Amino acid sequence: MATEVTPLTVKPLTERPSWQALEAHYKEIAGVHLRELFANDAGRAERYALEDCGLFLDYSKNRITDKTIKLLLQLAAESGLRDRIDAMFSGEKINITEKRAVLHTALRAPKATSILVDGEDVVPPVHEVLDKMAAFCNRVRSGEWKGHTGKRIRNVVNIGIGGSDLGPVMAYEALRYYSDRAMTFRFVSNIDGTDFAEAVIDLNPDETLFIVASKTFTTLETMTNAHTAREWSLAGLGGDESAVAKHFVAVSTNAKEVTKFGIDTANMFEFWDWVGGRYSMDSAIGLSTMLAIGPENFAAMLSGFHKMDEHFRTTPFEKNLPVILGLLTVWYTDFFDAQTVAILPYEQYLKRFPAYLQQLTMESNGKHVTLDGNHVTYATGPIYWGEPGTNGQHSFYQLIHQGTRLIPCDFIAFEKTLNPLGRHHAMLIGNVFAQSEALALGKTEVEVKAEGTPDWLVPHRVFEGNRPSNTILAERLTPEVLGTLIALYEHSVFTQGIVWQIDSFDQWGVELGKVLAQRIIAELESPTEPTGNHDSSTKNLIRRYRNDHH
Ligand code: F6P
Repeated sequence: MATEVTPLTVKPLTERPSWQALEAHYKEIAGVHLRELFANDAGRAERYALEDCGLFLDYSKNRITDKTIKLLLQLAAESGLRDRIDAMFSGEKINITEKRAVLHTALRAPKATSILVDGEDVVPPVHEVLDKMAAFCNRVRSGEWKGHTGKRIRNVVNIGIGGSDLGPVMAYEALRYYSDRAMTFRFVSNIDGTDFAEAVIDLNPDETLFIVASKTFTTLETMTNAHTAREWSLAGLGGDESAVAKHFVAVSTNAKEVTKFGIDTANMFEFWDWVGGRYSMDSAIGLSTMLAIGPENFAAMLSGFHKMDEHFRTTPFEKNLPVILGLLTVWYTDFFDAQTVAILPYEQYLKRFPAYLQQLTMESNGKHVTLDGNHVTYATGPIYWGEPGTNGQHSFYQLIHQGTRLIPCDFIAFEKTLNPLGRHHAMLIGNVFAQSEALALGKTEVEVKAEGTPDWLVPHRVFEGNRPSNTILAERLTPEVLGTLIALYEHSVFTQGIVWQIDSFDQWGVELGKVLAQRIIAELESPTEPTGNHDSSTKNLIRRYRNDHH
């Protein structure tokens, strides 16, 4: 089997000279405060800022010096990042455990491009599907597409989970401003029947279109919800099976399973195994997004992704936004032992962005073995989490400011709001800038005392500061900017994975639970006493459920 694994062409991570130099350098930096770094360096903010593709990244509030950046860039070089970027973009099968190319970048490649996978150019089929999606969306949005009883479609329910849900929900919320307000969009993902029941509670089956979105078309949650939707739809439409053709479309790589479900492949929008689930929102998985915002806005979103792809592919690493962002994450994860990264969008429309990034980052880099199957001896993917500001400020920011853990933060904000209302926006932006400043500089004992604080209260009111953050600014949240922002994180994740030498594109860690669940579901429902081999805790839990249901 060893021959199937791409041999490592770079040194193991901890043996790279840059890694060892970073270990030594960390000891120099650990005791240095951001206050000092700013006070002693008037050009710091200008030097540690990048601007391209409509995004401005201020990374000056990080615990770095020129030497840190130099060593991190050396680490990228010694990790073979340049070569791996080229390998990804050219369709090499870099997802080695699944033997697949990783070509989400092809989903947003312009028509004139050519990218070969197994000798076939994948760009023409990408555009064929985009055109088919656009034609369908135009028919639905204009009312030309009629439901079984002749009514136009007013409601769209996307049924999917993981990458077949999180991207669509996030994009719908993020781009709601651009959406057709005459239509209602719902997203059903959970196997919990409540999710479906609540999603359709006020919908009329005559006017409701279901998109069954599943790369494999075998995912338990999605298939269960899809069958329930079929029953609900048919029950509301008089039971005529032919209604399915007007109320169900599928998005999948698996035509066979789609047909088996009863959806005509004419109503199927295809994508390919070289699109990872968590990288699939610009494929046909984005059908609900296109229905909401229209084909032109969807194309603008893709062009934003593509701009960042080109930036990542061609820009020298020292000016490369995703490379810098990814290397900073490595810096904190591996040298400062930071466990998490907080994603803090100061933009209500991005409320699902942290949840989206959780799958993108953690399903990609939550890995414990290297590409050659050895257990890593360093930390890999951190935990990503977050909530929109300012809400988080009144909840968990206390811990970020005064807790015992180091939590690097990404603040994301827009210079202009889509909903100008009095002073709201200045107040919102004032809060972002205040938070990153407070985290970086803190408030010393002397400053607290100078305010007349009684001695006993002083320690409670001191802010140590020296807490790192990035600030990402764009002018306005548009479809294009959203694409750019997502691609920024996609490629930051890639950069991290290359340094850590892991397969960022498989997800074997989700398998065991799936298999065990199938077994336990059968035991919960079985009329006879189950004899399954479980630990005593699991046995007790199964017994308890069965006592209530049998
Ligand atoms: O179980 C994890 C996963 O495979 C994700 O990677 C994927 O996005 C999700 O399930 C849904 O898969 P599918 O689109 O095949 O239903």
